[in-house]
Amino acid sequence: MKSWRFHQFGDIGNLRMDEIPIPKPAPNEALVKLQYAALNPADAYLVKGQYPRPGTPPFAVGRDGCGVVEKPGDSGRFRIGDTVVLLRSEIGVTREGTLAEYVAAPEASLAPLPPGWKEEEGAAAPLAFLTAWQALVEAAGVEPGQTVLITGASGGVGTASVLLAKTLGAKVVALSRSAEKRARLKTLGADLAVNAEIDGLEMRVKEALGGGRVDAVVENLAGPYLQASINLCRERGRVALVGLLAGTKAQIIVGTLLFKRVRVEGVAVGTYTPGESQEAWRQIVTRLDAAGAKPPIDIVFPLESVPEAFAYLERGPFGKVLVRTGV
Ligand SMILES: NC(=O)c1ccc[n+]([C@@H]2O[C@H](COP(=O)([O-])OP(=O)(O)OC[C@H]3O[C@@H](n4cnc5c(N)ncnc54)[C@H](OP(=O)(O)O)[C@@H]3O)[C@@H](O)[C@H]2O)c1
Repeated sequence: MKSWRFHQFGDIGNLRMDEIPIPKPAPNEALVKLQYAALNPADAYLVKGQYPRPGTPPFAVGRDGCGVVEKPGDSGRFRIGDTVVLLRSEIGVTREGTLAEYVAAPEASLAPLPPGWKEEEGAAAPLAFLTAWQALVEAAGVEPGQTVLITGASGGVGTASVLLAKTLGAKVVALSRSAEKRARLKTLGADLAVNAEIDGLEMRVKEALGGGRVDAVVENLAGPYLQASINLCRERGRVALVGLLAGTKAQIIVGTLLFKRVRVEGVAVGTYTPGESQEAWRQIVTRLDAAGAKPPIDIVFPLESVPEAFAYLERGPFGKVLVRTGV
């Protein structure tokens, strides 16, 4: 089978399409013929050697995927021909990932493709939506009527956060540097969409809010955005710290944090157990279905074009970047 593996840590150009045997699943795993895989920035961090506790190359990256069960495992939950999605697991982190034609996956981390969803939507959603769920519900404790600021709102986690925050009854302020993407964020459900350029950002958000502050932030960017997010919080506001696309280091004015009693809490979707992922996924699907919403997909690349897909992701997507891994 074809598999996009990297053989040593370095730039994304280290990925190359290998021809390797179809994997042999363990008894508690299913063999899945993949139809689509979705990219995440962490896949690129991993290839570059910037991700904690990765596996030993060579192996394929790719944590998200959707495909058809060819050989079920011993859980009794799946049959040949079932279409399944992969929830967050060690796939593509310490072991062979989804940028390949097949993957052997623990059945505890598989879920049926939700009825009425397309295969590409099933591949696009899990990691981004599970992360958004942990950020909004567990780290930020968002309640109906509250106002949530979402930085990097056009990305995979950002668009998932916009959709889920609306299903939680929140007012959403979405940030993007692109006017075109701000218009799309409003169509997606954001109440306000504000230019994310860091210069003058706080003033623009305060103006858009009519002088108010936000109850919670989903912080996908960090770097200089973290202090801005803290400043924009009300007293006892919460910042769910998800990503670091604008910098791995941030200078914090300690006084603001302590006088306002703002809580900054890390989000790490990898800490979900398979059981916790399944439960969060069930709630996510129920909420999206009730709202008639589907995960936004920006673009689908053919399997031959994985390097181009990573380059596209780095430029900033709207929703998810996918790779068609099979037919
Ligand atoms: N903690 C966890 O468990 C977890 C899980 C998943 C992802 N993450 C992390 O969360 C972050 C977001 O992931 P994602 O999948 O949503 O990323 P993504 O799809 O690549 O989108 C991120 C968005 O952020 C904006 N952006 C990127 N670089 C920026 C910069 N330097 N300054 C300002 N804005 C910038 C872009 O929006 P505009 O061009 O529209 O401004 C882009 O569309 C990443 O760091 C990722 O690794 C963490």
